[in-house]
Parts: sequence; C-alpha cells; structure tokens
Amino acid sequence: MKLDLILPLCALVALSRQAPSSECSCDLTTSESLFPHDKLEAVKAGAAKCNSDISPQKEAELDMLLLGLRRRLPRLQEDVSTLEREDDGQLYGAVSLQVIQNELTQIKQLVARLKSAVQAHEHLTANTSTQLQYLNVEMKELEAYDSMQVVSTQLTNQRLKRDLDRCTSGQNRNTAPSQPPPGNCPHGRLMNVTGPRVYTAGEPGSHKYGAWGRDPKPEAGKEGWYWLVMLTSSNRYGHYVRRYTSLSSLIVAVSTPGNVMIHSSNPTTNTIQGPNVVLHGEALYYNCYNQDSVCRFNLTSKTVTNTQLPKGTRFNSKGNFCHLDECYLYTDLDLATDESGVWVIYTTTQDFGNLVLSKVEDGEPPGLGQTWRTSLYKQGVTNAFVACGVLYATRYVDKNLEEIFYSLDTATGEERFNVGVSINKMSANIQSLNYSPVDQMLHVYSDSFLVSYKVLFE
Ligand SMILES: *[C@@H]1O[C@H](CO)[C@@H](O)[C@H](O)[C@H]1NC(C)=O
Ligand SMILES: *[C@@H]1O[C@H](CO)[C@@H](O)[C@H](O)[C@H]1NC(C)=O
Ligand SMILES: *[C@@H]1O[C@H](CO)[C@@H](O)[C@H](O)[C@H]1NC(C)=O
Repeated sequence: MKLDLILPLCALVALSRQAPSSECSCDLTTSESLFPHDKLEAVKAGAAKCNSDISPQKEAELDMLLLGLRRRLPRLQEDVSTLEREDDGQLYGAVSLQVIQNELTQIKQLVARLKSAVQAHEHLTANTSTQLQYLNVEMKELEAYDSMQVVSTQLTNQRLKRDLDRCTSGQNRNTAPSQPPPGNCPHGRLMNVTGPRVYTAGEPGSHKYGAWGRDPKPEAGKEGWYWLVMLTSSNRYGHYVRRYTSLSSLIVAVSTPGNVMIHSSNPTTNTIQGPNVVLHGEALYYNCYNQDSVCRFNLTSKTVTNTQLPKGTRFNSKGNFCHLDECYLYTDLDLATDESGVWVIYTTTQDFGNLVLSKVEDGEPPGLGQTWRTSLYKQGVTNAFVACGVLYATRYVDKNLEEIFYSLDTATGEERFNVGVSINKMSANIQSLNYSPVDQMLHVYSDSFLVSYKVLFE
C-alpha cells in the first residue's frame, strides 16, 4: 500500500520541482495533502497490539455468550410474531405472553452474564476499546486521504477473503461424519479432536469436580437438554442432577427444570462419589457412595438400583486416574457412554491396577456384561472414554495439552499405544471426560469450567 500510494505522489511532486528551465513548464496543483504514512504505521502497530492483547480464551468466552444471545433473539422475535398473530384486538394470548416473559428473563440474564464477563476483563476492555476508538478515528482520517482507494480496495479484498475462508471451512464441516445408524458404528478410526466449541464457567461459585453432558437417549421433548453434576461436598460427593433445557441456558447457568435430588443428605447411601458420571435414558450412572458398585438413579421414578463390581475392584480413592505424581481423588469408577449404551472403566487388585472395561447392561437392576482387560496401568492415565466400542485413554502432556494416546478396540481386542491425538486444554486438569454419541462431542469438566470438543473420525 505504501509504495503503491507514495510513488505516484512523489513522482508528481518531483516532476513539478525538477522541471527543467525550458519554455515548457508545468505546475502540479493538488487539493490533496501528502499521505501520512507514519500515521498508518502507528495504526497498524496499534491494531497488532490489540490483537495480541485479546487471548483466544477471553474471545471464546465472549463468543459463547454472544452465540447464546444470537440464538435467543430470533426465538424471541418468533414468539413476538406469534403473539401478534394471536392478538384478538384487545387481549394478547396469555400463554404467549408468559413464554415471552420467560425468554426476556433469560435474555436479561444472558446480557448480565455478558456484562460481568466483560467487566472481568474491564481493564483490558477499557484499554482495548480506547485503542479501538483511536484506531477507528485514525483509519477514517487515513481513508479520507485515500484518493487512490488503496485502503478501501484492500478492505474489500479482506472481506472477500474472509467470506471465502468461511465458505471453505463450512464445506469441510459438511464432509465431516454424520450420525451413525443406531447400534452399529461405521465411523472409522478417531482421527482428531477440534475445539474447544464450548468453554464456559457454568454455575457461579463452581466446584472443582463435576461432570456435564447430554443424554444420548433422551425422552421425547428433552433432545436439546443438558445436565450438570457438581461434587458439592469436599470435591468428592454429589447428591443431585441439575438440568438445562438448552446449551445457552447451561452457558448462562439458568436451570429452569432445576435440580433432581437423589437424597437430601450428602453423602449418604447411594449418593454420588467421584466425578465420572453419565446420564443415559433419563438415568444417572455413577459410583455409589462408599461402595464398589455402579448406581443407577432413575430421574423419573427417583429410585436408585445398583450393580456390584467384581471382588477386588479398587474403590474409595484407591484406583484413581493420575498424572505425574498427583491423582484425581475418587476417580476409581469412570462411567462412559457410546453409541451402544453405558460402560464402566475401573481397575482391580487381580489386574494389578490395569484398566478394566465392562459393559453395563440395562435391566432391573442393571447388570455387568462382557469385560475386557487391558495392559494399561490406570495410574498412568488421566481419563478415559468410549466411542464406537473403542476405549480411549488420555495422558497429561503439559498444562495446555492432553493426549489421547491409547485405544482398545472391543471388536478385535487390538490395543494401540500410539493414537497420538492432542486435546488443547483451557485449564490444566481434567476431572471428567465423556463422549456424546448424539453429536460426537467430548464433554470435559476442567477445573470447574465446562468445555466441549468435536471428535472427527476417519
Ligand atoms: C491499560 O493501560 C494502562 C495505562 O496505559 C496500563 O498501565 C495497563 O497495563 C493496561 N492494561 C492492560 C491489561 O493492557
Ligand atoms: C487436528 O486438529 C487441529 C486443530 O483443529 C489441527 O491443528 C491439526 O492440524 C489437526 N491434525 C490432523 C492430523 O488433522
Ligand atoms: C425409570 O422409571 C420409569 C417409571 O418407573 C420407568 O418407566 C423407566 O423404564 C425407568 N428407567 C430406567 C432406565 O430404568
């Protein structure tokens, strides 16, 4: 831009100055002043600083809140049109009005969350917005100089390029694998994990240990619902499931259906011990308090039934997931979901601390199905999940990176120690990790943040 612009101007000025003293002379008069390149350079440097000040983490949080708003507003608009259609001349439909009031409340809460997220970065935001205003003014001034339309052409090019990029990545997304037919898994090998897609603080004053996700076998009308379990006592014990009717309600922490209590005390017989729980078919599966068994809490009947694990199963924080020389307390039992249902991952004394995988069978009470033994020592693993009948295990690389390094294919019995797929972490620790077969997402509870990633298959 600099050369394009400055050369013709300089040439013209030089021409008028150096005009030889012949009979033919020409004067250049231009209404334009010289292009202020130093200013442009200052603006460029300022913009670069702005970009580096805003970290992807902060952006992701704001993005998610904005996404929530963007999803909410069209719905509100729709509901308002419905309301208008139902206008009988004097009275609006009471039901629609109620719906709209609820919508408005949730939007207000969303805006409040957005505001507090912004305030959290107040210092940065204040600085950045002053800078941006300054840059904006400078750019306007510069554009006024821009008689050759260099800047505006460049802006148009950038816009086109961005549209093109968006279009290309949209196409890539379309070629990603879609839902598998039930009970069978035509996905190939797990190739990559991209994201995070969701990154949110969840409930205010959150607890360090917990889990969240979607029910892969929801009741009719609850397809878009999400659940959250927090270990509210000593980072070890929980006693209720919190539910949300949409991803944006989860993000703004507005739980309209509220909590479903297992018991009013925490902990007590058959309440939750340890973070690696899953919801499947309107029932929560988890390690029962102070027992080597899997509990199933039916959210409809509000009753708990359980299935005993084999003798020798490590429990009460004796067979945990670990990294380096630190372990995640009370992670003896890891419940998991995949396309085929519910699994339990654990270890036993007779397996010398190696991971064991068993299918959890439906039934009254639930039972244990087929079992697979691995040669993977559980203390070298930070978490595990099952996707398409394949067990995957992760290990801690550093505070920013986790690696899916191990797999066991239950169809062939083949073990691999070189899976080599990285997960970009937002916080150092993963307290729970589970695969959601409905949308091929990994749901992670990480130092009280809720994070999700997309799994890409071959
Ligand atoms: C904001 O600006 C002030 C004054 O220029 C500076 O001291 C401070 O470090 C800046 N804060 C950030 C987060 O950039
Ligand atoms: C996996 O995804 C990450 C993040 O999107 C990307 O940087 C990386 O190149 C991908 N790796 C492979 C093998 O596709
Ligand atoms: C939960 O209880 C309801 C009502 O008793 C029953 O219809 C349903 O099958 C139960 N769900 C599970 C997963 O057992």
